[in-house]
Amino acid sequence: MANRPKVGVVLGSGLGAFADTLADRLETPYAEIQGWPQSTAAGHAGKLAAGRIGETEVIVLSGRSHLYEGYSAAQVTFGIRELARRGVNSLVLTNAAGGIDLKFNPGDLVLISDHINLLGVNPLTGPNDETLGPRFPDMSDAYSREYREIAKDAAAELGITLREGVYAAVPGPSYETPAEIRYLRTIGADLVGMSTVPETIVANHMGMKVLAISCVTNMAAGILPKKLTHAEVLETGERVKETLAKLLHAVVTRLPAQ
Ligand code: HPA
Repeated sequence: MANRPKVGVVLGSGLGAFADTLADRLETPYAEIQGWPQSTAAGHAGKLAAGRIGETEVIVLSGRSHLYEGYSAAQVTFGIRELARRGVNSLVLTNAAGGIDLKFNPGDLVLISDHINLLGVNPLTGPNDETLGPRFPDMSDAYSREYREIAKDAAAELGITLREGVYAAVPGPSYETPAEIRYLRTIGADLVGMSTVPETIVANHMGMKVLAISCVTNMAAGILPKKLTHAEVLETGERVKETLAKLLHAVVTRLPAQ
């Protein structure tokens, strides 16, 4: 018999509004979860919130760790392993990203159709745990086509414009140079960011289906005659987080049984 979907949602920088919409919400600070990698750098404390949207059980991770903070690829994906231990079989990732495709505008929501891993690391490096997944997992539908169609339908019904593009993951924390952005465009990237790819790899390894949505918080370096700032990233996130929350709400309730 098909399992009911149990959906994990990871909220990126400044995109936290959705967590507040969970019914019967039970929150746990990451620090209270056994084995959760402890932050060495000063930074945002994250939390896990379990609850429901309609009939669907949802676990939201508000706040993620990044490689640029000094965490290993295994550490930045601990949360996804934890979601799997809690029965999550469907994953929705969100992030802030720079727009490389000139058709994008700050504030656009973009479905990730595929990725290019330029992080220089892979979270599956090392001995493989065969109980979790295969040594050489397939990544040809890493961002489930089925889920993307569901998201497009939900967005259309809500009147939300949802674009689609390829996400390149870079280590950061410095933003890219204009030359690096021209290079990324040449190799087929439409978006650039510093997260999401390790989580997607680990989730696919464990057989989860993945949907990922980027918020274009800024145009990538060299496109506009201005400097990139983290403040702009946060401001744009703030501006669209309600729209993103509405879209996530609709998508989560439509994900089919597995
Ligand atoms: N580059 C990399 N990561 C980002 C950007 C960017 O322009 N914007 C938000 N995250």
